Amino acid sequence: MKFSVLTLFPSQVKDFLYQSIIGRACEKGLIEIDAVDIRDFTDDSRYRKVDDTLYGGGTGMLMQCGPVYDSWRSTFEKDEDRPYTIYVSPKGSVFDQEMAISLSKMSHIAIICGHYEGIDARVTDEIVDEEISIGDYVLTGGEPAACVMIDSISRMIPGVLPNIEAFTNESHMNGTLEAPQYTKPPKWHDKDVPEVLMSGDKARSDEYNRIASLVETWEKRADMIDRLQLSEEDWTKMLAFKNTL
Ligand code: ADE
Repeated sequence: MKFSVLTLFPSQVKDFLYQSIIGRACEKGLIEIDAVDIRDFTDDSRYRKVDDTLYGGGTGMLMQCGPVYDSWRSTFEKDEDRPYTIYVSPKGSVFDQEMAISLSKMSHIAIICGHYEGIDARVTDEIVDEEISIGDYVLTGGEPAACVMIDSISRMIPGVLPNIEAFTNESHMNGTLEAPQYTKPPKWHDKDVPEVLMSGDKARSDEYNRIASLVETWEKRADMIDRLQLSEEDWTKMLAFKNTL
């Protein structure tokens, strides 16, 4: 899987991503991350200017079509190899785990990072397949959003995480939050690890974790629990579990 990030700040993207698990995935050749400097595609060799004032009034500067289009066009040779192209912007649909999973199946994704007031609409209309936001707040530029997305898409690619169990039970994989987890020692500050998790009984532990995960979701993200079709039996178990806390 290849990511081409079109940016005015390539080092921000590289410094963030060429580390730890994602850095190792790059070294192993499981993913390739190319940070393409949009300024390399300006006609203005002196100031490398890529932005200009808005037509129709309004404050600030807008990134121009030419450098954005040419940097994007440099990421592939033949038209049929055109990457799936994402524009990260606060106006996009909000990124979630389901999107990360489906994007992890692509072979080449280009991500355009805006700055200033954004990008001339004519070029985004022409080349963008999907506009995505990482949340309902505004960043100074698209780079942190691109990095967040690349991190979460990449960890869904086979071989990037050490084993598949690392993510099959984790939060957001099945519309719930992960159950609280514990490690040694068994007693800490007068608090015990739940007895069932120390019993060695896998079936009991699994059922305990299933209910603990539902209660965690109910307590922390009531909006998510509303979307699950829970049986009356599960609700009874959840209420009983809550009473033991
Ligand atoms: N650029 C500025 N704000 C953003 C956001 N919330 N998500 C994605 N890109 C952005």
